[in-house]
Amino acid sequence: MKIRQVAEAKKSPIVLALDFPFERPENRNALFSRAEHVLEAVHPFVCAVKFNHHLVLPLGVFDRVQKLVKQVHDYGVVAIMDCKVNDIGSTNQAIAEYYYAAGFDALIANPFIGWEEGLKPIFDVAHRLERGVILLVYMSHKGATEGYGQTIIEAETREKIPQYVSFAKKALKLDADGAVVGATYPEKIKEIHQVLGEKIPIFSPGIGVQGGEIKAALEAGASYLIVGRAIVQAEDPGGSAKEIMKLARLEK
Ligand code: XMP
Repeated sequence: MKIRQVAEAKKSPIVLALDFPFERPENRNALFSRAEHVLEAVHPFVCAVKFNHHLVLPLGVFDRVQKLVKQVHDYGVVAIMDCKVNDIGSTNQAIAEYYYAAGFDALIANPFIGWEEGLKPIFDVAHRLERGVILLVYMSHKGATEGYGQTIIEAETREKIPQYVSFAKKALKLDADGAVVGATYPEKIKEIHQVLGEKIPIFSPGIGVQGGEIKAALEAGASYLIVGRAIVQAEDPGGSAKEIMKLARLEK
């Protein structure tokens, strides 16, 4: 399933982050029902749903998460696993195989691990199964500056450039299916968009609770907006998603 087609058909660049606060493990039945209800209410207004450890840990991948992924697909919406893969090759390969086997259309990986015995096994599995790999380029939280924001001497060119520019160049070279850049740093979105052009879409988390703004992120070049708590923890998640979608449409 291709996110671009879904987003264009629904005129929604919104990716729902289906994250819930910690629940005691014995309450996981209620957590599962809550996730089903949020999906039911929100799906008309989003092009994709992003899962994270918030549900994978308490619900299990091949148990109830897989059921939620099926629910997402039945709605004609894309399912992304935000597992930020960040290990050695053999482990990354197993992580990718399991998440894709559970039905995820794409997963998120961390380019800090490099290509050989890092990202390569993930891309190999993804290409074989025709699924996506989205790379982190600049994260949305404050500490992102310490890693993604460092100035480095690029190994290939010996040039001094920001780490995130090097990651953006890597995303382009590897023909990744997306780059994650925090909405909290619109100036970075702009700079990264200049490297990626229209070839690699930017997924931007951090809208709402983290302080990122819809208008600034879209104007800077984001293609998709990842929104979690502003929707999931709203009194009326469907209403909130609809409102955010409408605001995003005004900026497109
Ligand atoms: P909120 O509730 O802040 O949730 O809307 C945001 C969601 O996005 C994830 N997140 C990120 N994921 N790179 C990522 O791959 C990032 O820079 C980033 N920042 C936030 C977060 O884990 C949550 O699921």
